[in-house]
Formats: sequence, C-alpha cells, structure tokens
Amino acid sequence: MGALALPVDHVLDGTAFQLQFDRVAGAIVWVKLKTMVETIEWTADGVVMIDQTRLPHERVFVTCRDYESVAKAIEDMVIRGAPAIGVAGAMGVAIGMLSSDETRFGAICDRLARTRPTAVNLFWAIDRMKALFAALEGQPLAVVRARLVAEAQLVKDEDIASCRAIGRYGAALIPDGATVLTHCNAGALATGGYGTALGVIRAAVEAGKKVRVFADETRPYLQGSRLTAWELVEDGIETTLITDNMAGHFMKAGRISCVVVGADRIASNGDVANKIGTYSVAVLAKENGIPFYVAAPISTLDLTLAHGGLIHIENRASTEVTEFRGHPVAPAGVKVENPAFDVTPAKYVTAIITERGVARWPYDESLKALAALAAVAS
Ligand code: MRU
Repeated sequence: MGALALPVDHVLDGTAFQLQFDRVAGAIVWVKLKTMVETIEWTADGVVMIDQTRLPHERVFVTCRDYESVAKAIEDMVIRGAPAIGVAGAMGVAIGMLSSDETRFGAICDRLARTRPTAVNLFWAIDRMKALFAALEGQPLAVVRARLVAEAQLVKDEDIASCRAIGRYGAALIPDGATVLTHCNAGALATGGYGTALGVIRAAVEAGKKVRVFADETRPYLQGSRLTAWELVEDGIETTLITDNMAGHFMKAGRISCVVVGADRIASNGDVANKIGTYSVAVLAKENGIPFYVAAPISTLDLTLAHGGLIHIENRASTEVTEFRGHPVAPAGVKVENPAFDVTPAKYVTAIITERGVARWPYDESLKALAALAAVAS
C-alpha cells in the first residue's frame, strides 16, 4: 500500500499491529503485522500450544485445561524457550486458579516452578502473578480469577512487543548482505511470538536488508533443525542448516558475518546461560573476529546473580543423547551426560540486545541501567 513503517507496535490479544504511514491515503493507520504460528494462546477451552516435539513434520495443537497439564507440557518440551516458558507459567497459574480457591494458589505456583530450573523467565512470570495475587487480597474470587487471566495474557502480549523492540535494536547491528549464525531456537516458538534472535533477523529482513542464516542443528534435541530451520523456511528467509561441529569451519572460511543467539538467564556481570553448545560458538566467534550478540528481554536478566557460575543448569534424560525418536544411536549401558545449557562468559559477548536498548561491556553497569529504565509500552 506504499506504506512507511513507524517504529511503534501495539499488541492486542497476541496480534501485533504497527502504525504505518499510508502514502496513498496520506494518513497514519494501524496495520496488522504478519503473525507466525501461535506458540501459545489463551482460549475459552484452555491454554492451547503448538506441540513443539512434533514439529516440523506435524502441526499438532494441545489444549491444557488444568495447571498440571501446563506443567507437564513445560517439562516435556511441548513448549520450550525461555520467554515462552514464562508465558506458559503465567497461563498455568491463571488456569489453575479457575478451578481452585485462594488456598491453592501457593501450591499451583510451586508446581509450575518445579518444571524447568534454568530459564529465569519462568520464575519472573510466576513472581509477577504472585505480586498481583497479593495486591488483590480481599477481592472476590471471581475478580481474582479474571485479573489473573488478564495478567497472563498481558505477559504474552508484552513479550511479543519486547521481541519486536529487540528486533528493531538488533536489526541496526546486522549489516546488509550478512550471513547470521544462530544456535538453538530463539524464534517465535520460543517466545510469545516473533522471537528474540530470530526477531533480530526478521526485523533486519523487514528493514529491507538481505540476510542469510546458518542454523546450527543443536544436538541433542535438534531445536535448530526442527524449529529454527522450519520457522525461517516458512518465512522465506534463506537458511542453511549445519551440524553443530561445522560452525568453526564456516567461520574460519569467512562465511559468517555475526552470531545472534537467545538466552535463558543472564547474570549481572553479563555471563549468559543458553542452549548447550552456545559457549563453543562464542569462543569460535571470538577466535575468528566475529561479533557475538545475545538477544533477550529484560525478563531474562537475573541481576541477583553476580556471575554465571551461580546459574542452575538443568540436566535432562540420557535418552535424549542415546536415542533419536526412540531409536538407539549409542551402545546400551554407555555413560551419558546431558546438560541442557552452558554458560558463556561475558568476555565473549559483543553486546546484549534488549527491548530497552543495547548493553555493552562493562555489563554490570549497562545491564543495571537498562533494568532501571521504564518498560516498553505494549
Ligand atoms: O531447552 P530449550 O529448548 O528450552 O532451550 C531454549 C534455548 O536455549 C533458547 O536459546 C533460549 O531459551 C532463548 S529463547 C528466546
């Protein structure tokens, strides 16, 4: 329509709208932005999630009608990715309270908090629901329930708005013609929508830049090949899938312009916990003089931790390593370690892109400053 995009987004019921100047009409109008597949949605029937264990070959949606099914969905990786887990946690609390009275609130929060330990967004979201619940003390149960449901939907809407803002800040760091390497899935599926690392890539493409992506397959759970490659191919963004052990080869060959990844928890000194293998990518990037960017919302910051060594790293089932979709790929009885995340020391991180701006070294100061800024309006 010959429209010029203005940098203002609004998210309503999970759908992003953008103010654009319509040159033909000569007016500023709200335009519905293209939405990726819905990762998670609050519906009258329950919390609906796309089953990420079945992607990319099957598009199956699961409906969680109680908090226990939401907790199981998080544990079983039906939904995964730090901000998406946060949204699920908030919706889990809300749906739990629809069939419980106030005395059950603490137990519901505790169950959801026991699902996965590393992504701080889960605890951030549950704490937000707890703060609201406390503020509503003395209100009728119907009011408490309605407010918790509304808050959970707001957590999702704000996350999408944050991803869009991260995208705008991050796009400026991506050169036209760049080849971006990413690890794991920090896309629409890992968030309320749009994505953090993939949000940066999407925003660069929307800004008219030519961007290619190299996606690490991300052993052992294959979030890169199953989810990132799927999202990007769906979007028509040129994507090359590589196995994790190829990253150094392509960096040395001068084929990678920069790395952009997401995060599960960022300590106050800028150490970053993210999907296992991120540390190796960061070290390789530094060795090859390639910028290494982390894209994450403020809800991923854990400023209570002085450094990344204090982050609780989840260990997952050995079968994720020894089997592929139920088929053994290792001898029975072999010892296995399966940490789901690693910590990249801040010295390898070129910048941390948030919805409130871009933090650079020294991170103790820059992250604290961004955390103190007012939230981005959704
Ligand atoms: O085990 P997962 O799939 O939940 O791990 C996800 C990641 O490590 C992502 O990179 C991170 O959560 C950022 S998502 C925007």
